[in-house]
Amino acid sequence: MNLRWPESQPVLGGDPVALRSWRASDVEAVYAACQDETLQNFASVPSPYTMADAEEFIALGAVVWREHSGVNFAITDALDEVIGAITLQNFVEVELTCEVAYWVADFARGQRVARRAVELTALWGHEELGLEQLILKIQRENTAALAAALAAGARPTGLTVDEEHKGIVRNYSIYEI
Ligand SMILES: CC(C)(COP(=O)(O)OP(=O)(O)OC[C@H]1O[C@@H](n2cnc3c(N)ncnc32)[C@H](O)[C@@H]1OP(=O)(O)O)[C@@H](O)C(=O)NCCC(=O)NCCS
Repeated sequence: MNLRWPESQPVLGGDPVALRSWRASDVEAVYAACQDETLQNFASVPSPYTMADAEEFIALGAVVWREHSGVNFAITDALDEVIGAITLQNFVEVELTCEVAYWVADFARGQRVARRAVELTALWGHEELGLEQLILKIQRENTAALAAALAAGARPTGLTVDEEHKGIVRNYSIYEI
């Protein structure tokens, strides 16, 4: 079995939370969101985060889609403004698996945005792309990320992994959806 990559990256969901491909005009929103301390602490983004980092991240979206090595979605609100990011990465095609990572801009938190984004990607990943399993690696102390994952239907695998993040080895619990 292979994954079924559509020709173009889809738009998922709709009002009030949609997922779409990145646009060059999203750069300011990404730059601003990535200044947040919580995001800097838990998400895999460069520190300090520059405009060049935001431009690179946005440009990467088209590249990974073309190569079938990832799916980078902007999370947007009813006005099509960026309020977060959710990324499918580290695909293992033979196992039909990938990892999911996400962040929500500080001003948009607490409104079930991450929960909806995980639900939408999991549904599309299973039903359309043909994934068997989407993996979420969450640090024990990241209460918000864990709550969002569980609310979206993720289950603990019982496995953990140590990985270096910004110069510190951290322990991640592995969840699946
Ligand atoms: C983690 C993060 C994405 C959550 O985004 P969010 O949109 O605020 O989360 P949601 O509103 O979808 O929350 C989903 C559920 O988790 C709960 N929740 C959210 N934050 C919580 C917190 N700090 N403590 C306890 N529960 C929390 C919500 O109440 C909600 O539960 P419900 O649906 O039963 O009401 C956001 O805090 C963030 O971007 N953090 C920094 C980056 C990060 O940690 N990324 C994840 C790396 S694995």
